[in-house]
Amino acid sequence: MTKLRLGVNIDHVATVRNARGGALPDPLRAALLAEAAGADGITAHLREDRRHIRDADIEALMAGLRVPLNFEMAATEEMQAIALRHGPHAVCIVPERREERTTEGGLDVAADEARLADFIAPLREAGARVSMFIGHEPAQIEASHRIGAAVVELHTGRYCDLMAEGNEDAATVELAALKRAAAHAHQLGLEVHAGHGISYDTVSAIAAFPQVEELNIGHFLIGEAIFRGLGPAIEEMRRRMDAARALAGAG
Ligand code: PXP
Repeated sequence: MTKLRLGVNIDHVATVRNARGGALPDPLRAALLAEAAGADGITAHLREDRRHIRDADIEALMAGLRVPLNFEMAATEEMQAIALRHGPHAVCIVPERREERTTEGGLDVAADEARLADFIAPLREAGARVSMFIGHEPAQIEASHRIGAAVVELHTGRYCDLMAEGNEDAATVELAALKRAAAHAHQLGLEVHAGHGISYDTVSAIAAFPQVEELNIGHFLIGEAIFRGLGPAIEEMRRRMDAARALAGAG
């Protein structure tokens, strides 16, 4: 079974910083701590409204990180130019609406296929691994494959919300759809990632999908860091990922 990587999203370190308008806490410092605690990559989402990560953070992360940066962005010309200027290892294309609190759904690749194919072409040519953040619908997986994306990241937010609400029956149905999607994408030759809303309670079920190669986790880890520190919070997540993977491999 492939190794499961952990990408740590540090957006909400910037959220806390921006609440006071100063320079602290520093997202780069958090990213370096995450690296030391075993993160395989760092994810940062530069939103159009710059509500958390700012342009200067991307510069600092590109200059200061040893692990790869996964640059999350909307499919806009402004973001494409920024990505091409920095040349990050990976680019994850996400839908973005100003009024949303977080990335609430997957990208509708199927509805915007021709434009997205053109949009990602220069990023691919520049050597970035391009990922589409999508729901589990087969049409979205197939469209992502057709436009030449290397990776799909499956949106796990609904599964995690249903678990948090205690709605286990609906969560089981959602998990099964995610599992089918992971197998489908893998079978098409896409690398499979997953993320959004993952906590200690939900990580094991997702980490057990053999096709998933990377989980991207942010909000829960930054929150948990308040109680146990960022390094130990990440180490515990890593431990749970590895245990779930080992169990799935043995089973
Ligand atoms: N993956 C993608 C594509 C995202 O947009 C986000 C949230 O920015 C995450 C993963 C991480 O989600 P969370 O912060 O809920 O762990």
